[in-house]
This record gives sequence, structure tokens and C-alpha cells, in this order.
Amino acid sequence: MNSLLNWLDDRTGFKALMHEALYERVPGGARWRYVWGSTLVFTFSVQLVTGLFLWMSYSPSSQTAWESVYYLQHEMLFGWLLRGVHHFTAQAMIVLLVLHLWQVIIDGAYKAPREVNFWLGLILMQIVLGLSLTGYLLPWDQKGYWATKVATNIAGITPLVGEQVQALAVGGPNYGHYTLTRFFALHAGLLPALLVAFLALHIYVFRRHGITVPDPIHKPDTTFWPDQVLKDAVACLAVLATVLTLCLLHGAGPHGGAELGAPADPTENYSAARPEWYFLFLFQFLKYFPGESEIIGAMVIPGAIMGVLALMPLIGRWKLGHGFNVAFMFGIMIGIGFLTFLAVKEDRANADYNFAVADANQKAERVVELAKIQGIGPAGAVQLLRDDPKTRGAALFKVKCASCHRYDDHDGTGRKPTEAATAADLGNFGTRDWIRGVLTDPAGPKHFGPTKNSPEVGDRFTKGQMAEWVEENITSKKVTEEELDAVVEFLASLGERKDAGKLDADKVAKGKNFFGLGSDAVSGTCYDCHLMKVADDPDGAFSDASAQIATGAPDLTGYGSAQWLHEFIAKPGSKKFYGSHNAMQEFAGSLTDREIDLIVKWLLHDWPEPENATK
Ligand code: HEC
Ligand code: HEC
Repeated sequence: MNSLLNWLDDRTGFKALMHEALYERVPGGARWRYVWGSTLVFTFSVQLVTGLFLWMSYSPSSQTAWESVYYLQHEMLFGWLLRGVHHFTAQAMIVLLVLHLWQVIIDGAYKAPREVNFWLGLILMQIVLGLSLTGYLLPWDQKGYWATKVATNIAGITPLVGEQVQALAVGGPNYGHYTLTRFFALHAGLLPALLVAFLALHIYVFRRHGITVPDPIHKPDTTFWPDQVLKDAVACLAVLATVLTLCLLHGAGPHGGAELGAPADPTENYSAARPEWYFLFLFQFLKYFPGESEIIGAMVIPGAIMGVLALMPLIGRWKLGHGFNVAFMFGIMIGIGFLTFLAVKEDRANADYNFAVADANQKAERVVELAKIQGIGPAGAVQLLRDDPKTRGAALFKVKCASCHRYDDHDGTGRKPTEAATAADLGNFGTRDWIRGVLTDPAGPKHFGPTKNSPEVGDRFTKGQMAEWVEENITSKKVTEEELDAVVEFLASLGERKDAGKLDADKVAKGKNFFGLGSDAVSGTCYDCHLMKVADDPDGAFSDASAQIATGAPDLTGYGSAQWLHEFIAKPGSKKFYGSHNAMQEFAGSLTDREIDLIVKWLLHDWPEPENATK
């Protein structure tokens, strides 16, 4: 073995090189405070390796980026861990960078002759921040998409060349696909190459001058190997352990590691998009510089701070100057800490923000569910949510219907509107509960009750013919409990609620009979006012088709079915439904058929569910 090594050494001289690398003198002995540089090299190596493996599965295009990250996170064996390690190591790097910078400043390690190396360090810091910024966009999820949009807009306020700078960052006039490809090239190509180059220079220059020993030497000198290497190794392992712990915080498997939001959707503004936590202070800071003054917060002040940092080696020549540097660094850190605290505090207290986050989390979960049930089509994952009744139906309801209606007391998406409803709560529309409600308390708070909140509608429904008839026949118990039960079952059999459960055929038949024929005790039948067509009618309950009177009572043929709902929403004022009696807006013009279908399916709970889901 030894002779083999000697043979190799003869030809390469590697022993001298190893010696040079490992037996660097450490004056005053190994110390924990020297570990930061090594941990940074370590974390960067981790990023290179995990980044390379991520690259093997990543596909940088606006149609496939999210999809490929979904694959990594949810399908690939240990892909979630790979992503998680890359994600959290990036954050660890920022923390270590700050600690390293801090230690250098406190120890005065920037003083002559080490100025140039300090500047190299500052450049490295910018590169690492650049890597973080570009990496945030790559999963192409809502939060990265919208937060990065804000960041590239800031580039646009650069004086004189703002437009050009922005176009350069965005990759053309529009933020989108080309921004992604550009950011990926920066993230996986240019910036790592620069980092390697500057890191090599940084280490080379560092070795030239050696470690700065901050205070009088207490201990005898040692060498880098093994004393300092041991401490460095322990520190690197601690970093790795922290990263792994963060990965496992939400459990092992696809729910662990890094988050993946819903796929980026340029048509759906995500107001709660925030940058990564270490940029939050900047986000908060910009709040104090609205409009025209933004440039001061985004460029002038950060530029000035970077300027002071760069001048530190020169300022630090004097004892007083060094004191200033240390105080300045402390000031900046306290400022950043405080701004971050404010940003978090303001967000926590912001109901809109919290709502948007909860909504985004729901969508993120739902799109994964859909991808598992349906697979991802050529239009990409974003289309899954756009076609999903559960997601889109609710969103459309919020925009188009919640100005009058409620859904389980909210607006369809979970928010409680402040103004009073002027139409029914449709959360249980078409269920037995709903039907029973219409038949026992049509003017109640879930049914026609809210319509009287609208001055134009008044008591048109709450004291209308249905309410009158119910008062006279149902409230007074002329309709027996059994008959009521049966007619509820009959109407429920027409509807298409997916969560209706099993029907009682016997009751349905009895209810149908009662609907058409009534009983001796009641005055008039449902059929006197409501049209009802049934396919076959052996009992003859609906044989007399001319019985309807002009009451504005809706046709109940197929009541609560997808078709009934679709036709109703399109034209509630048609003769078939409420006629001149109608108080609801017509949607035939303002919603497409597809959109109406999405709302209808959502109202009927007709959406894809995982097979093992409990109803
Ligand atoms: C301007 C207020 C208003 C808007 C907006 C509105 N509705 Fe209505 N809706 C009503 C009123 C009032 C009724 C009662 C019957 C009528 O006037 O046609 C009603 C009735 C209904 C009914 C029948 C159940 C019942 O309570 O009688 C359904 C279903 C319905 N609306 C769905 C919708 C959907 C879905 C939307 C959104 C696409 C919507 N509505 C938008 C006011 C509104
Ligand atoms: C006197 C005529 C009349 C009779 C009889 C009558 N209804 Fe009605 N019904 C109406 C009218 C009118 C409305 C619309 C609300 C209003 O203006 O009060 C209505 C509304 C309804 C609705 C709500 C439709 C919606 O918008 O979702 C249902 C369900 C219903 N009736 C079922 C029945 C059943 C079942 C019977 C028999 C047990 C019955 N009705 C008997 C006149 C009548």
C-alpha cells in the first residue's frame, strides 16, 4: 500500500498538497468560533449534490415545473427527503453566512491585510442570496410565483434603466415561462459556477494570511488536522442533524420536507405570497415606502448598508472605527430581527392573510388529491383545480352568488360575509333536511327567510303562497307526519345529491301519490301549484296535466337534479320557475355553461374523491 502511494506521489506530488491542506497552523489551538467557514463549504457541497439529483427529475417549464416537483415530492422514492434537505440546507446556509460574517467582524478579521478577502466574502453572500431568490421560483407554485413577481417588479424601479433591468430579470415583456427558464439557468448554472470560483479565491486568500486570532493566545498552536477538523466535523454534523430534523418536522414521507403549494396560476392572484423568512424583513421594510418612495426602501437604504459593510475594513483601521463596525452590525441584526418580528406579527393579526393562507393550503392539498385520482393531463396540474367543482364551484359561488346566498353560513370558501343574506342558505340544498325545511318553515332563516332583508323583495316569499299553504296544512298538522316524510323522500329521489344515501322506495311511492293527489284532510295538492312530470305514472297521481294554476310556483320536475339546477341558475325568471315572481339574477349571460355546471356539481357534492374517503 505504502509503495503504491509513493508511486502515486512521485507522479502527482499529492502528499505535499495534502500536507499543505491539512497541516495548516492554527495559532492558539483549535476553536469552535472558527467552524463557520467550514460549515458553509459543507452546506454548499450538500447543495451541489442534492441540487444535481433534483435536476435529474426537474423539468423547467411553466407547463411541467410544478408537475415534476410534484413527482419528486409525492412519487419518487425519498424524493421528498432530497427536496427537503436541499430546501432546509439553503436556509441553514443563510444562517451560517450571517454567523460567519458576524464572527469575522467581531474578531476584526477584515483588517489589513485581509480586506480583499472580506470583499470576496461579501460577493459570496450576494451570490448565495441570489441562489435563494432564484430557487424560490423553481417549484412554480403559487407562493413562489407571486412572491417572485413582486421581487422582479422591484427590479423595475431601478432609476433610468428600470425597464431594461426588469426585462432582463423577467426574460421578456411578460413574467412567466421565460422567467422560469432564466431563473433556472441562473440557479443551476451561472450562480453555482460563480460561487465555486469565488469560494476558491476566498479560501486561497484565506490560506495566505491564516486565521485571525481574536484575543491573546492561551494555548499552544496546533494544526488544522486533526484538532480543528474534528471541531469542524462536529459542527457540520450538527448542521446536518438540524436539517434532517426540519425535514421530519411534519413526518417522514410526502408530507415531510419542503412545502409545495398549489401550481402557479397567473389568473388567480395569491395575496398572501411572502418571500422566504430571511427576506421578510425587506418585505416589511418596503411597507414604509409606498409608491414613489419605494426606491428608497428597496435600493437606496439597502445599497447604503451594503456600502458601509464594504467599507468596514477601511473604517476598522482605527480602534474607534472597529467599535463602530461592530455596533453597526449589531444594529443591523437587531433591525432585521425587529422587522421580521413585525412582519410576522402583522400577518398573524391579518384575517385576510390568514384566510388566504388557509385557502392556499386547502388548494395545495386538493390538487395533490386530484393528481392522484385523475392523473395530470397535458394542460398541467393547474387545470385540475380549474376543472374541479369542489374548488372552482366554491370560488364561483363566492363571486357570483354570495352577495345574496350563503353556504353553511359562509360565502362558499369559508369566509363569513358581514352584510345580511337576501336569499337562502344553499349548504344543504336538495337534502331531506332542506326539503323538510321548505315544507315546514319556508320563511325560516335557511330558506326564504333572508329574502325579506331585500327591500325590493319584501315579503314576496315569506308571506307567499307556499308559506300560506304550509301554514294552513302542515303547521296545522292536517298533513300527517308520515305523509310529510313520504313527500320529502319523493322529492329527495328527484335530486342528485351525492351524499343523499339510500332511498326508501316505499316512501317514495307514497310521497309521489301524496304530491299528486293530496289527502282528504288537506286543501289542494302540491300538484295544484307545482308542475311535476314523472316518466311512468302507474298510480295516476299526475294524470291530470292541466291542474297548474298561475302562481309562480316553480316546476318541480327533477327538482334538485343537475339539470333542474342548471336551468334554474341560467334563467330563474323563466316561466318554468319563478316567472315574474323571480327576484334572483339571471346567469345565462354572465356565466358559461361550464361554469354553471361547476357550481351545480359543487352544490350537489358531485366531485372526485379519493376511493377510501369516508362520506
Ligand atoms: C340578487 C340576489 C341573488 C343572487 C346573486 C343569486 N340568487 Fe339564487 N336566489 C335568489 C332569490 C331571491 C331566490 C328565491 C327564488 C327567486 O327569486 O328566483 C333564489 C333562489 C335560488 C335557488 C333555489 C332555492 C331557493 O332558495 O329557492 C337556487 C338553487 C339558487 N338561487 C342558486 C343560486 C346560485 C347558484 C347563484 C349564483 C350563481 C345565485 N343563486 C345567485 C337571489 C339570488
Ligand atoms: C298554493 C300553491 C302551492 C302549493 C299547494 C304548494 N306550493 Fe310549493 N311553492 C309555491 C310557491 C308559489 C313557491 C315559491 C315560493 C313562494 O313564492 O312562496 C313554492 C316553493 C316550493 C319549493 C321551493 C322551491 C325552491 O325554490 O327551491 C318547494 C320544494 C315546494 N314548493 C314544494 C311543495 C310541495 C312538496 C308541496 C306539497 C306538499 C307544495 N310545494 C305545495 C306554491 C305552492
